[in-house]
Amino acid sequence: MADDTLSWMNELTAEMEERRKKIELGGGEARLKKQHDAGKQSARERIVTLLDEDSFVELGVFTEHLGGDMMEGISAPGEGVVTGYGTLKGRTVFVFSQDFTVLGGSLGKMHGQKIAQVMDLAVKTGAPIIGLNDSAGARIQEGVDSLSGYGEVFYRNAIYSGVVPQISAILGPCAGGAVYSPAMTDFILMAKGTSYMFITGPEVIKSVTKEDVSFEELGGADVHNRKSGVAHLECEGDAGVLEKIRELLDFLPQSAKEKPPFRKTKDKDDRETPELLTIVHPDQRRPYPMHDVIKTVVDEGHFLEIQPDFAKNIIVGYAHLGGQAVGIVANNPRNMAGTLNIDASDKASRFIRTCDCFNIPIVTLVDVTGFMPGVAQEHAGIIRHGAKMLYAYAEASVPKITLIVRKSYGGAYLAMNSRDMGADVVLAWPTGAVAVMGAEGAANIIYRKEINGSKSPEATRKTKIDEYKKKFDNPYWAAGRGYIDDVIDPKDTRKHLIRHLRMLEHKHEERPYKKHGNIPL
Ligand code: HXC
Repeated sequence: MADDTLSWMNELTAEMEERRKKIELGGGEARLKKQHDAGKQSARERIVTLLDEDSFVELGVFTEHLGGDMMEGISAPGEGVVTGYGTLKGRTVFVFSQDFTVLGGSLGKMHGQKIAQVMDLAVKTGAPIIGLNDSAGARIQEGVDSLSGYGEVFYRNAIYSGVVPQISAILGPCAGGAVYSPAMTDFILMAKGTSYMFITGPEVIKSVTKEDVSFEELGGADVHNRKSGVAHLECEGDAGVLEKIRELLDFLPQSAKEKPPFRKTKDKDDRETPELLTIVHPDQRRPYPMHDVIKTVVDEGHFLEIQPDFAKNIIVGYAHLGGQAVGIVANNPRNMAGTLNIDASDKASRFIRTCDCFNIPIVTLVDVTGFMPGVAQEHAGIIRHGAKMLYAYAEASVPKITLIVRKSYGGAYLAMNSRDMGADVVLAWPTGAVAVMGAEGAANIIYRKEINGSKSPEATRKTKIDEYKKKFDNPYWAAGRGYIDDVIDPKDTRKHLIRHLRMLEHKHEERPYKKHGNIPL
């Protein structure tokens, strides 16, 4: 009897193993080879690359598709998506990885439900959710059921936004719903040359608008990282994307209820930064590398820039200061003289809100003449877009420190987190200057009559510009009125920033009751 039981059990176990193996093969050897030949990893290989060794635990392993007329006779192992959880640098994360070898990774009702399940668990347990997207969008054969599957995912993308970090890797041709779900997440990382995002592909575009466009030109990593601003990072292949996600998580907490992890550093809190005295030129018009300013100040010079190739006139990214994760927003005098335009406003506002969601203090480095003038910008709605920055900074209740590196003029002074917009601490270097506008423009307006009426207008103009500069082109006028807390020696920048961050560690700021604010979109 005991032998019978054992052999029966063995049979059942063998059947289970066989079923599992079939599922693990996905769309089969031939399609897997195609995937590898295209330079892409399989859905399961990607999970192994992303997570700590042997840490992945799969869920929904034997899930099957919903059926229906058009799905009859079609097999979809694992429903075309591998879902579960594991650890990343020892921290729990939830993952879904779409399998392009199974019906092009298309999303059917049960595929959507598998993703929704891990999203729910991520929120219930307070852990990030990472989506590895490689999908042709809604599964055509399932009709409205596949749209419903997407609805389940979209709904959660929205209501879980700001609850736990949501990160999207784009690792293949992603179409339709496969791009709208990532678009609602906090970060999108794309693999160079093998990933695409579009709502309709080149064929549909050709039939509708007669435009001839390649996959790459339509929605490659280059397009979305440089032109559209849809993506946040462009990486070398699958491995590059997955490695970057591991790095990104160093700056993010498990959920909105926690703080980002503290990172031990050998870099001393009071390390002097005399290099800064030679990087920044006191002449307000001379460009300099703001990236070098950031790298000089932060722990071990490590700065993870977000959207480095989009709206280069503003720099945003993550670093650590004395072990504490911070988000940095800085004008870039090397690009469009650091002025704020529509794209820069969108980029910075989104970044500020991401920091605020996840308890990441914001350090703002200011060197800005103003918002970008021009008919094109006005007609494209710079008022609406620029307002996002004002809104985002004011709304953010995380610790906010502003350092006025050089000029800070007009509306952009306010939009770069001035005292009145809620900065907790405002510092300036002796090169800092706060005014309504630059000296030339100001003198031309307020002394126009005197300049035009004088015997030598050019000499008078120069005198008036110098007078204005003397008065406003320094940090002391603003400091005298309490808009700047201290003017500091650039070589002590790191020390000051870390001290203020420590002071602000337990900052708590309540806002008046509301359902939610209404940011201009
Ligand atoms: C079901 C699909 C599919 C789909 C592709 N396949 N798209 N199956 N539903 N949407 C299948 C193919 O039949 C093929 O099966 C396999 O996946 C691989 O597809 P290929 O075309 O051979 O691959 P490739 O040449 O690499 O082209 C990939 C692609 C292309 C660019 C993604 O397949 C494509 O354009 N698909 C349609 C994209 C699309 O329009 N999706 C619907 C979007 S609407 P075999 O058996 O041969 O391996 C949508 C609405 C959501 O998503 C709501 C939005 C708000």
